[in-house]
Amino acid sequence: MSDSRVPRKRRFLVCEPRHFAVQYAINPWMRPDVTVDVELAQEQWRELLRAYRVHGHTVETVEPVPGLPDMVFAANSAVVVGGRVFGSLFHAPERRPESLHYDTWFKAAGFDVRRPESVCEGEGDLVFTGRYVLAGSGFRTTRAAHHEVQEFFGVPVIGLTLVDPYFYHLDTALFVLDDGTHSREENIAYYPDAFSPGSREVLARLYPDAVVATREDAMAFGLNSVSDGLHVFVAPGATALADQLDRRGYVPVPVDLSEFQKAGGGIKCCTQEIR
Ligand code: ARG
Repeated sequence: MSDSRVPRKRRFLVCEPRHFAVQYAINPWMRPDVTVDVELAQEQWRELLRAYRVHGHTVETVEPVPGLPDMVFAANSAVVVGGRVFGSLFHAPERRPESLHYDTWFKAAGFDVRRPESVCEGEGDLVFTGRYVLAGSGFRTTRAAHHEVQEFFGVPVIGLTLVDPYFYHLDTALFVLDDGTHSREENIAYYPDAFSPGSREVLARLYPDAVVATREDAMAFGLNSVSDGLHVFVAPGATALADQLDRRGYVPVPVDLSEFQKAGGGIKCCTQEIR
């Protein structure tokens, strides 16, 4: 199996955690009384960049803005497919100004940006699988935004309902292992109990061969991973998940972003993919 797995080079956009902090609480992980070690966060974040680059991926950066402590979570800023950028409109007023800074970056990089009309938190809730956009709702991104996304990309959008506040964004409960570029079948890994019963059935129907993760894996941010089709950049605490990936012929690359978990974020949250 492992011989058949082929990595695809990715283009990532990230934002340095220079102004990262937990100053408000908009998900159950965030406790404003807990202090963040910004230096450790910077070191962990640089390790993530090193891991991406060592494995052949391109990493670009957007300048962080003082007063926007969650701007480091680049995934939430947009979804980009085929060079088309669908921007963000945050649920929390504290995060709303981030969108403008990301839009400015995209425009300077030569992209047009479509502004959403309804609350939409980018790749946090909109996961492009290769064939579909899996779209979360329940806590942040709205169903109305799912419709906008389908019209904009012309890609089938599959709506999924999130039910556990610890997994408030789709990308905390599910990630794409293989987008089908080099294999016959796209595939995902996910934590079923984060979803409503109907959404669980949809996922089982679409991905009968998915990697199904435990609550421990999910609580360790194991589902907030980035896969290039062979290497899976994954939180080191998700040990059962890493074993499963290994058995399936993937190569887990552990990257510890423990400081970011204090804000409810992990590897994928810090990573926007430009397709
Ligand atoms: N504190 C941020 C929030 O609650 C964390 C965002 C994490 N990003 C993600 N893609 N899940 O909005």
